[in-house]
Amino acid sequence: MSGMWQTLERMRGAREGRDITDLFAQDPDRAEGFTARFDGMALDYSKTQLDGELRAALIDLAQQAGVAERREEMFAGAPINRTEGRAVLHTALRASDGVQVEVDGADVMPQVRRTRARMAELSEGLRAGTVRGQGGAITDVVNIGIGGSDLGPAMACAALEPYHDGPRCHFVSNVDGAHIHDTLAGLIPETTLVIVASKTFTTVETMTNAATAHAWMTARVADPGAQFVAISSDAGRAAEWGIAPERVFGFADWVGGRYSVWGPIGLSVMIAIGAERFEDFLGGAAAMDAHFREAEPGANMPMMLALTGVWHHQVCGHATRAVLPYDQRLALLPSYLQQLEMESNGKGTAMDGSALTRPAGPVVWGAPGTNGQHAFYQLIHQGRQVVPCEFMIAARGHEAGLEHHHRLLVANCLAQSQALMRGRGMDEARELMRAAGLKGAELEQQAAHRVFTGNRPSVTLAYDRLTPRRLGQIIALYEHRVFVEGVIMGINSFDQWGVELGKEMANALAPAVAGEAVPKGIDGSTAALLQFLRGG
Ligand code: F6P
Repeated sequence: MSGMWQTLERMRGAREGRDITDLFAQDPDRAEGFTARFDGMALDYSKTQLDGELRAALIDLAQQAGVAERREEMFAGAPINRTEGRAVLHTALRASDGVQVEVDGADVMPQVRRTRARMAELSEGLRAGTVRGQGGAITDVVNIGIGGSDLGPAMACAALEPYHDGPRCHFVSNVDGAHIHDTLAGLIPETTLVIVASKTFTTVETMTNAATAHAWMTARVADPGAQFVAISSDAGRAAEWGIAPERVFGFADWVGGRYSVWGPIGLSVMIAIGAERFEDFLGGAAAMDAHFREAEPGANMPMMLALTGVWHHQVCGHATRAVLPYDQRLALLPSYLQQLEMESNGKGTAMDGSALTRPAGPVVWGAPGTNGQHAFYQLIHQGRQVVPCEFMIAARGHEAGLEHHHRLLVANCLAQSQALMRGRGMDEARELMRAAGLKGAELEQQAAHRVFTGNRPSVTLAYDRLTPRRLGQIIALYEHRVFVEGVIMGINSFDQWGVELGKEMANALAPAVAGEAVPKGIDGSTAALLQFLRGG
């Protein structure tokens, strides 16, 4: 492996300063040759420095890291999450009928299907008004969860708004009382269903918000528990909390929180769009799973998305990656991918316990286009740092009569990746200033501000339309890209020990915030801030 990294470093050196536009001049078929296609989607990675030789070297790197072997282990239910001793089987939640997946010698699929059938029964009952609240048909659903128990369903509900024909869905995650206060303020307890979504059923933010929702419900309805549903891996805790067993939807510990939207954590999505469309969402993901396992590396979308990521971050050293969906309904996707990628691959230790010598994962950030263009694209175009961009765009929107909006959206998306690649040289900038009537030193100075270096890499994911199936494919594509990058870096992408220390310290500080003695040995800064916030 270290030899491969050295080879890639050498290749980077040899390609320094090479214009991506020249690659197009040399190869008229470059766009086709550097696009992976699958089932109505195209991943164009031609606007990067990748050429045939470099792509082959990156594929070699993946092979040497054992991506294919680890991938099959994952799908087969091997305990690849070694630091927690667990299998990693979110793919089982969306596996098609007839598939068997064994964990410790037992097929887990019958239980997966039973739980999904129970979810469908509840969802369809709520949607039809046959499962009712104590004040009539349920009009509003509040999902209380955080991290993976919030970001996936919240993102998917927003993404699939055109298909949303069930009760309204709301999402409360932050322990900041403002979140639950403002959400419940507009709702009627008797016609509201509260979903408490927590894999562990111990997360302090979720349990605090759930208790507040319970008190709100208790003030108005005779049997508050009947307006609640729990989603958890710990059915015992949910029962202790007072939720009847038939209202508890469990899932196994082999589903990581940030990979959990495919099962019961997706209940709010199923209630919103219906069980049939939820099946389409799962079907899209299952199709991407099959593509990931079967397509040869150069045409394999997750593989190539991962390898361009490795090239940009681990080899070229670009610290961040922007996700730029030109799709307003994917506004929450950057936050979703932030958790997926940064909680999975934000690691400093290799599987064998040794310290990594290069960062495993980039900072992932972004916002929908075209809004971002009027906010942070300035830096992406002219800042000194290079930010590889990942654009997403649909061929068609859902809004009949507003096709002219969509045409503008497409033009902007394409223009941005084009501008990043081509840039604008000093000669062209001078020409512009000359045309504006400037001369001499003033012309030179003003022209310098209008230079774009160009040669900035991007990939574009184009798809026909954001349907439930397409969304399933897109999320699964990103899950597998994270997996490939994690295997190449030799890390465990499925634990998240890095979130623990802060949680422990918050618990230790809570009594002092409430007025008790300040813990001994606390640092001066924290003590002074505590004093200030206690108003003393
Ligand atoms: O603290 C991080 C984390 O464990 C995430 O991985 C998870 O998605 C989130 O908290 C919520 O956890 P739970 O579903 O157990 O409440």
